Amino acid sequence: MRSLLVTGGAGFIGSNFVHYWLKHYPGDRVVVLDALTYAGNLASLDPIRGRPEFRFVHGDIRDGSLVERLLREERTNTIVHFAAESHVDRSIHGPGAFIETNVLGTYTLLEAARRVWLEERVVAQHRFHHVSTDEVYGSLNPEDPPFVETTPYAPNSPYSASKAASDHLVRAYHHTYGLEVTTSNCSNNYGPYHFPEKLIPLMIVNILDGRPLPVYGDGRNVRDWLYVGDHCRGIDLILKHGEPGQVYNIGGRCELQNIELVRALCRIADEEFAGNPELRRRFASCPAARGIGCETLIRFVKDRPGHDRRYAIDCTKIERELGFKPLVTLEQGLRATFAWYVANEQWWRLIMDGSYRQWIRQQYGQSEGVA
Ligand code: NAD
Ligand code: TYD
Repeated sequence: MRSLLVTGGAGFIGSNFVHYWLKHYPGDRVVVLDALTYAGNLASLDPIRGRPEFRFVHGDIRDGSLVERLLREERTNTIVHFAAESHVDRSIHGPGAFIETNVLGTYTLLEAARRVWLEERVVAQHRFHHVSTDEVYGSLNPEDPPFVETTPYAPNSPYSASKAASDHLVRAYHHTYGLEVTTSNCSNNYGPYHFPEKLIPLMIVNILDGRPLPVYGDGRNVRDWLYVGDHCRGIDLILKHGEPGQVYNIGGRCELQNIELVRALCRIADEEFAGNPELRRRFASCPAARGIGCETLIRFVKDRPGHDRRYAIDCTKIERELGFKPLVTLEQGLRATFAWYVANEQWWRLIMDGSYRQWIRQQYGQSEGVA
């Protein structure tokens, strides 16, 4: 039986991972440690809260004594580390929080794991899985081959630089102390519970409310899109069959220019609205409710400073060694994601009008990490 500590489990990928894990391994123990920053959302864990095998702990990964206590108390044998500041635009305006959580936070977790697992030997076997990003490899030109695990690091934003630093620390704890670590560097995820500041969820909620769709620069920046459920399956394979000390790239084999992606979402919305009077009634501000194409909402806006031109992942290693394959096509994934935001309007409305933050403050007070 596994006893997992999932950091950042109230965020986008972390919450999807917790749902995935308890669905596939209902006998395992899952403890989420999350500071509930602006990006953390307890409502994303609603479907499993109250289950005896699940525990939510409101706390910061930089709190070493809390982490150590949890590792001992829960006899944790697996850490899956998602907690991070994750938005590039925010890192440009305020890099400090990225250094604090992504670098110092990861260091604190590693130290706690070293003490409890390697010095005290509280459990017989352990695994520290670190979730990282393809952004550590920098930006590709159109003709460059996709990133492989041995591509030299060349992070360009404060976000990717802080993730790169954390990757190096994780590697060093394996090399120096023998901590059993694995790392995955994945491409852009999308799917349910995605905070509506990132490209896909922002475009979906703006389409539904008839707000402009801001496309940075010329819209020709390329990202490699990975459905979050496929990512969770990739991490599962690494936990079960991955070799300690190894790094695995996880991608969707799905490169697309931002403008093409936004147009695809507009097309999906137009089609959904055309065949669904209920949708036209609920989201009357959407142009498609009046038979007007959603592409009319697209606006090219000032580019992001230092905007990486292209990311692409070569995931041959995890495919060959662990049998991974992305299963959800972009069309399927975008349709499922659009449908999720339509079906879960309350989830994103409470975020957007700020009432979710008020509720968290009532529950937890003004403790650290609560915006
Ligand atoms: P997110 O921003 O949606 O969630 C981050 C979570 O971490 C939130 O719940 C937040 O409350 C929590 N958190 C932040 N600081 C904390 C702290 N100091 N202590 C405890 N909890 C804290 O992020 P995400 O998109 O789910 O990304 C998860 C991980 O995956 C990150 O490490 C990110 O770098 C990596 N990643 C994400 C993507 C992507 O497309 N979203 C792609 C590649 C890699
Ligand atoms: P984002 O979702 O922020 O992920 P990342 O920067 O980590 O790749 O952005 C994805 C791409 O979409 C990126 O090239 C920036 C672009 N973008 C826009 O054009 N408009 C937006 O409003 C946002 C949030 C992103």
